[in-house]
Amino acid sequence: MALYSEKVMDHFRNPRNVGVIGDANGIGEVGNAKCGDIMKMYLKIENDIVEDVKFETFGCGSAIASSSMATEMIKGKPLSEAMQLTNKAVAEALDGLPDYKMHCSVLAEEAIRNAIDDYYKKKEQNENA
Ligand code: FES
Repeated sequence: MALYSEKVMDHFRNPRNVGVIGDANGIGEVGNAKCGDIMKMYLKIENDIVEDVKFETFGCGSAIASSSMATEMIKGKPLSEAMQLTNKAVAEALDGLPDYKMHCSVLAEEAIRNAIDDYYKKKEQNENA
């Protein structure tokens, strides 16, 4: 059996939603200390909907494929749904990752959570300003 599914290879070779959102209102960055890979997520949230999402990943192929798939899974979705995205769901949507590559999908989950936290923090600051 091939090590990586077709879907992993597809999202690795043609990652969706790569880039930066200049006026993002939620940004999350995470890294994995062991492998040194870094992932940054940009969210544009309007009326509690993820209107746009982009990512930059300096990391392995599984991390790139996970970020790409994760952005597809939350784009256009309500924040409440985006917040519940798990790394397991991302890995399943990719038709699986090898066990020792599961931590790459964790980066995607954490980067999205951090970006949503950042959005709420900024919102609170604006409301109190
Ligand atoms: Fe570090 Fe994949 S090996 S994120």
